[in-house]
Amino acid sequence: MQPAKNLLQLLQSFLTRPSESFKALRSLPVTLDAMKLAREWPTHTSSSSIPVPTSDASNPLWKFFEARQAGRGIWKWTHYFDVYHSHLKKFVGQEVHIVEIGIYSGGSLEMWREFLGPKCHIYGVDIAPECRSYEGKDTKVFIGDQADRGFWKTFRSQVPRVDVVIDDGGHAPFQQIATLEELLPHMHPGGVFVCEDIHGRHNRFASYIGGLIDSLNEGNPRMQPELSQMASAFQSWIHSIHHYPFITVIEKRDQPIQGLVAPRHGTEWQPFLEKDLPR
Ligand SMILES: C[S@@+](CC[C@H](N)C(=O)[O-])C[C@H]1O[C@@H](n2cnc3c(N)ncnc32)[C@H](O)[C@@H]1O
Repeated sequence: MQPAKNLLQLLQSFLTRPSESFKALRSLPVTLDAMKLAREWPTHTSSSSIPVPTSDASNPLWKFFEARQAGRGIWKWTHYFDVYHSHLKKFVGQEVHIVEIGIYSGGSLEMWREFLGPKCHIYGVDIAPECRSYEGKDTKVFIGDQADRGFWKTFRSQVPRVDVVIDDGGHAPFQQIATLEELLPHMHPGGVFVCEDIHGRHNRFASYIGGLIDSLNEGNPRMQPELSQMASAFQSWIHSIHHYPFITVIEKRDQPIQGLVAPRHGTEWQPFLEKDLPR
């Protein structure tokens, strides 16, 4: 993005949300401290360290990938297979509706079918019309640009239920943001949204996810015997946000929650905090 456009965006956010913008700016020094800690992390290499992460043979996704020596191509970072297995295994054998943005050579669509089972419905999205050839029984292909919000409007009208989204498309932050904004609110309860290939420091999509994490932390419960607060609409639906190298996973709740509470269990308490609690 050009510096002038960047500056204009910054100015706009200060004019429209001044107090939030100041608070965000105030946390910049600690963000920089965290980056320093990560940058200066002690080097630790030994003969037992693994050169590159793989997965174990019990992960069916990894097994599928390893066995794929010929046929339709799959292209994924090896450490993604464990991430996918842990967040998607709950859908195995279920009637699940999964969207993958970025079909390329069609192998990953085959992998999802094999992993999730015959009841799954697969929707592939790609900007390249050549990918239409991967359409098949229970696999529908949509040709379009993931950054085009009009495309998603039409998509949503044709695919009313979405349980899983995998964004492995163009990988540019503006494409990833448009896709998340158009699909995450539309997803079914219990849905899992994954975005691959968030590369590089100061990545704008990573900052966007940082804003979502900040919103998941919203609230300032007062010190009282039982801490509690009403959940914001976002907190009531979003269960968790997970980040791994280059990949983020957002999980929706099966059912919305109304509030967040921190009750105390037990009868024995140190006196040093008791004096601060309201009677
Ligand atoms: C990395 S490849 C996908 C790999 C595949 N998912 C796999 O695991 O083997 C990226 C794909 O995204 C598609 N793509 C690029 N820009 C896009 C956009 N703006 N909208 C939709 N698809 C896009 C490309 O045509 C390409 O097929």
